[in-house]
Amino acid sequence: MEKDNNYNHNPLYNATNASLVNLTINGKHTQIQVQPWVSLLDAIRDHHNLTGTKKGCDHGQCGACTVLCDGKRILSCLSLAVMKDGSEITTIEGIATDGELHPLQAAFIEHDAFQCGYCTPGQICSAIGMLQEGKATTREEVKEQMSGNLCRCGANTNIIDAIMEVKEKSL
Ligand code: FES
Ligand code: FES
Repeated sequence: MEKDNNYNHNPLYNATNASLVNLTINGKHTQIQVQPWVSLLDAIRDHHNLTGTKKGCDHGQCGACTVLCDGKRILSCLSLAVMKDGSEITTIEGIATDGELHPLQAAFIEHDAFQCGYCTPGQICSAIGMLQEGKATTREEVKEQMSGNLCRCGANTNIIDAIMEVKEKSL
């Protein structure tokens, strides 16, 4: 049976106080109807079926849900979808171009920077945002700036190796 991702069939989303929210996700404009309490994370996963963005803690403590919003990294579990009306969102599904991996994706593979992979989409989106912020110059600073993204598998050393390689190449 085909999965029904249309939340308009869900009474939770069909009440009269639902709001229309315009988002551009990975370059594609969308309009969804959501209740004011729906997180951006749930809007991405449940309304758009983009399940690359992960729900770890749902409380802003693990970083698994990190996406880029207007170029800045944010925790999508702590953002309401209605707050992001009109924003451009980039998820892990949107960072490769024309079938070519983003340099961070390639570096993660090269450095074996994951085991289960659950934290990886958030790690990569966060690293893109972190490199764009330009605050971290040393390995220690990169570790500090990435400390909001937890890896339960212990791939942290390889994650930082991958990020440092891309950082050094882009200087
Ligand atoms: S799911 Fe958002 S920080 Fe953990
Ligand atoms: S690779 Fe498993 S949590 Fe990071």
